[in-house]
Amino acid sequence: MSFRPQPSPPARPNRSQLFGPGSRSELFEKMAASAADVINLDLEDSVAPDDKDKARANIIAATHEVDWGDKYFSVRINGLDTPHWYRDVVDLLENASDRLDQIMIPMVGCGEDIYAVDALVTAVERAKGRTKPISFEVIIETAAGLAHVEEIAAASPRLQAMSLGYADFAASMGMATTGIGGTQANYYMIHEGQTDYPDPWHYAVSAIVAACRTHGVLPVDGPFGDFSDEDAYIAHARRVATLGMVGKWAIHPKQVKLANEVFSPSEEAVAEAREILAAMEEAKAKGLGATTWKGKLIDIASMKQAEVIVRQAELIAGR
Ligand code: COA
Ligand code: MG
Repeated sequence: MSFRPQPSPPARPNRSQLFGPGSRSELFEKMAASAADVINLDLEDSVAPDDKDKARANIIAATHEVDWGDKYFSVRINGLDTPHWYRDVVDLLENASDRLDQIMIPMVGCGEDIYAVDALVTAVERAKGRTKPISFEVIIETAAGLAHVEEIAAASPRLQAMSLGYADFAASMGMATTGIGGTQANYYMIHEGQTDYPDPWHYAVSAIVAACRTHGVLPVDGPFGDFSDEDAYIAHARRVATLGMVGKWAIHPKQVKLANEVFSPSEEAVAEAREILAAMEEAKAKGLGATTWKGKLIDIASMKQAEVIVRQAELIAGR
């Protein structure tokens, strides 16, 4: 272990991020009434180019007029390869109320992308005397984004969360699939006549989790396109939760409940974690660094694992 302690990510629940197009303002009240931890109003791909101005105006109005309760409120701007993004930042930061918590930057490819947005955001904040600093979240959804994931995770103290964007990522990587997340029909192995479908996203998920954990950023799973298949959503969400992600996008309101369930530790898991902590406290009092609990080895590292679960449960209970 490096002498540098691993920084803690922001202490807020981020189990579900519900998306809605900024151009469909009739959805905003429904989104506000949902059980999502994070709201993502979109200015990017779900908004047609001719609707960008209208969507910006809708979102600005929604920061003043809609009661978003205790939800974390984020807006996805357009990518830095478009002519739209600077106007997104300037209009939002000049005109949105302090209810705006976060900007989501899509298609990031390097740390300088974050630096550029940070410079513009900082200038508008100063010019307008905004006292609440806007936080950032980014989407890793290109080959360059994954190749530079660690530098991106370290790029700004504003950065709070990082998501994996499946569709653009698959396209950028030249992956032979049109599926948005989940297992893929052509990614299989045959062993003794049995067909097995491993996870083609495993490396990207783990790389994002490692970069995020190194720099105190929340790792979040992106969209699951087939919103009619709840079991497949749950299976995918459980896999990424096992790998360390803290939440997942909901691109349809149905998916919010599924994400909240998967990313909330179960009562049994929390009870077990508390038992492990108690058993280790007892062991430590006896001068031991390891002990036996229910026939299994537990040691100092088990305490850290148990603390992750207990901390997550406490955050959710506080919502
Ligand atoms: N947030 C809140 N409520 C939503 C919603 C959303 N994102 N999408 C749909 N609803 C509402 C509908 O208005 C409808 O409400 P009603 O029962 O009061 O009539 C209900 O949920 C069922 O909606 P449904 O008819 O199944 O969906 P739809 O055809 O209206 O929309 C999508 C489906 C996928 C187009 C829509 O959910 C959507 O735009 N999702 C977000 C897309 C997005 O932002 N993508 C960018 C990130 S990948
Ligand atoms: Mg995308």
